[in-house]
Amino acid sequence: MRVLSGIQPTGNLHLGNYLGAIRNWVRMQDEMDSQSQCFFFLADMHSITVHEGREQRIRNVRDMAAALVAAGIDPDRSVLFNQARVPAHAELAWLLNGTARIGWLNRMTQFKDKVGKDREGASIGLFVYPVLQAADILLYNATHVPVGEDQKQHLELARDIAAKFNSDFGLELFTLPDPIIPKESARIMSLRDGSAKMSKSDPSDMSRINLTDNDDAIMNKVKKAKTDPEPLPETAAGLVGRPEANNLIGIYATLSGTTTDAVCADFAGKGFGAFKPALGEVLVEALRPIRERFLQLRTDDDALDAILDKGAAKAAAAAEPTLRAAYDAMGLMR
Ligand code: TYM
Repeated sequence: MRVLSGIQPTGNLHLGNYLGAIRNWVRMQDEMDSQSQCFFFLADMHSITVHEGREQRIRNVRDMAAALVAAGIDPDRSVLFNQARVPAHAELAWLLNGTARIGWLNRMTQFKDKVGKDREGASIGLFVYPVLQAADILLYNATHVPVGEDQKQHLELARDIAAKFNSDFGLELFTLPDPIIPKESARIMSLRDGSAKMSKSDPSDMSRINLTDNDDAIMNKVKKAKTDPEPLPETAAGLVGRPEANNLIGIYATLSGTTTDAVCADFAGKGFGAFKPALGEVLVEALRPIRERFLQLRTDDDALDAILDKGAAKAAAAAEPTLRAAYDAMGLMR
């Protein structure tokens, strides 16, 4: 088993990233046997689609590395690196541009959501972003890719690209990866709008819980989270058509290792005035140790750089044979 996943180092790690993806990364790392390997990386080559200053980007990469280690990624057991330091990603992405079709990329909903009406003004990088993502995955012959629901379509594209490349060149070079998407927390929604996902790019900080938020900030955001006036239902079936309630109860259930049905049974008939402080407590307890480790780790840039240097060397060695085989298959090597 080869596990691989990535995260963009733009802004803070938030609760959606943590519950949708990172918790699963840590679980898969911790359950890994001696035949398996885990690769986790900071997608800084993807983050060029967002304009950031040089210093900010350098800080963001180190901070995201610190956040992942704080959340439980162990750089001695998993390969932790940033994409820009392993040029094979960019090289394979270019080769795969010959395989990917414009029609396939035109269907990507994340691109459509991000550009809105200004398609002509969008960067080429944003359009071909999913091809680089396919290269990230296929380079390592990843079998399992733990992600949140919003990445499902990109994973399907990676499979399509792999299958077409294999068939075009008549070989089984690339492994078709399987997305690993959690059942309960695949899509954590904004605290301000139950129809939008929690996201780093939402201009309102009140819409998300960041890993860096202190206990008071977490309690305050939960208290101010949008809800409806109805009390909690007796079962999860009563959450249909109540996206904000469903989101908050889902977060509680995920963090306390139970089901939404069980949470509904516990709080049935109570209002959100009673539920929110309980949810705030669960969140504070879950995030405090991660935040404390993060704040400590981010004070030592040299240590973070050493982790990323070591990870990049291991990743480059693992990626090289696949990249060479792709060049060779295409007749680009003699
Ligand atoms: P990114 O940086 O947007 O998000 C990182 C991970 O967090 C998940 N996620 C969520 N899960 C549940 N609810 C939410 N509100 C939420 N918001 C984010 C994402 O699904 C993701 O798993 N394109 C990727 C990064 C990437 C990648 C890869 C991932 C680049 N190459 C190769 C896997 C394999 C991205 O922008 O994720």
